[in-house]
Amino acid sequence: MQRSRNRVAVLHGVNLDMLGRRDTEHYGTVTLAELQTKVKRFAGDLDLEATFFQTNHEGEFVEYLHRLPERADAALLNPGAWTHYSYAIRDALEIAAVPAVEVHLSDVDSREEWRKSSVLDGLVIDVVSGEGTDGYRRALEILNGRLKT
Ligand code: DQA
Repeated sequence: MQRSRNRVAVLHGVNLDMLGRRDTEHYGTVTLAELQTKVKRFAGDLDLEATFFQTNHEGEFVEYLHRLPERADAALLNPGAWTHYSYAIRDALEIAAVPAVEVHLSDVDSREEWRKSSVLDGLVIDVVSGEGTDGYRRALEILNGRLKT
């Protein structure tokens, strides 16, 4: 039987298109295209349908969130550096009003002080940080659990 709520929007923000050229100590060598291929597979294993979006423009990220409820039942977000200061993105996610999990490839809590705070705090159902690409699988599992309830 076809599930009615299984669409997950996977959103990457500023500089995440540069994966593969960024500091390998924090981000590994995976490119965004490779990461998305992996995430699509993780999603398929859970009977979830993943769609992908990346932009370096904050307004585009905000507008994508505005339209999100028409095309997705849940969101997996890695907003990059916007995580730490963009209240516009927080407000837009609040408007989207879908279950969301925040993911970071690197362990943001063990890096610079400014990376320790997230504007999405209290709005997302969970944060997965420091688990590299596997963190995306965990985030999808969390969203899958929420979508089934
Ligand atoms: C990041 C962590 C952020 O602090 C940073 O600005 C990024 C990537 C991560 O995936 O670890 O661009 O979100």
